[in-house]
Amino acid sequence: MEVTASTNIALIKYWGKSSLRLNFPAVGSLSLTLREFTTKTSICLSEDGKDHFVLNHKPMDPLEKVRVEALLKAVPEKKRVPIRFLSSNNFPTASGLASSASAGAAAVLAVNYFFQLNWSFSRLLMLALKFSGSAPRSLSGGFVSLEPDSARRKIKIHPLASPLDTLVRVVVVRCGEGPKEVLSRDAMELSKKSSPYYPAWVSTHRADLRRLKRALARGEWDELFSVMEHNTLKMHALTLTSQPPVMYWTPATLAVIRLIREKRSQGWLGGFTMDAGPHVKIFTDAETAEKWADAAGALPGVTGVLIASPGGPPRITIEGKEWEWDGFPN
Ligand code: PMV
Repeated sequence: MEVTASTNIALIKYWGKSSLRLNFPAVGSLSLTLREFTTKTSICLSEDGKDHFVLNHKPMDPLEKVRVEALLKAVPEKKRVPIRFLSSNNFPTASGLASSASAGAAAVLAVNYFFQLNWSFSRLLMLALKFSGSAPRSLSGGFVSLEPDSARRKIKIHPLASPLDTLVRVVVVRCGEGPKEVLSRDAMELSKKSSPYYPAWVSTHRADLRRLKRALARGEWDELFSVMEHNTLKMHALTLTSQPPVMYWTPATLAVIRLIREKRSQGWLGGFTMDAGPHVKIFTDAETAEKWADAAGALPGVTGVLIASPGGPPRITIEGKEWEWDGFPN
């Protein structure tokens, strides 16, 4: 059996946890699932009686393995058999392209189907959350919000309809190579402990989420760009003001941001966001995406440009039969 899940890119960021044990987010978030960047995960019975964990055709490193092993602890003992867990990303792992989101969604569904567990939707959400804070969002296609209910320690995800949902494209501008310097889970904990701006981040976050949802519902590009950039820059202000500071940007990151501001003043449609890495993601429409790709691709230090479009929910394949996962409660 095999599961293919798409990554997502957050327009409103999750950054900071209120519970480390549950990996419970201190703030909500809102993302777009991307068709082109996927994780494929398959599970089969292991013939030698031992578990094997493989990522991108190599044995998984301990940090990755620990998350899969934690997930497997949720499988009842009487159903637990040794497995070969094979996962591969069609894009660079741990580089600010949200590999843990698609990996988490694919892993949780693969375990659910392989062991025939029939986990409820809310169980799947909480297990995906434990794997990675951005993973529950990859259980849905298109625009999706993740809303934490801190009092009940539950999360909800909501697919969001928007007039922009077929028009939108994301130009991913790679601004450097290699895995990120500090993993997001460590950097966000450091921000919480040491940035004097962390309380302001949490207290202003809900308003950003509300504004962005309204902009999506009304199809207002300019408002969407304005809130998305504000929220991204606040997140990066947290990393920069952590002690010690975490600096994800490269000179190319800043060059791309300046390009966006300049071209937008000349009427180009586009706004940016960035995650825990140097790459810039430009939200735009199909018509302008090619122009952004050409202009950003020509900047020094830019190592590659890709255009992504909105993606659907995960796809499951069992015994040659493939279908789109639709586990949302009605
Ligand atoms: O899912 P994690 O633990 O890798 O954290 C994701 C954090 C950001 O990508 C920076 C923001 C987000 O909401 O995706």
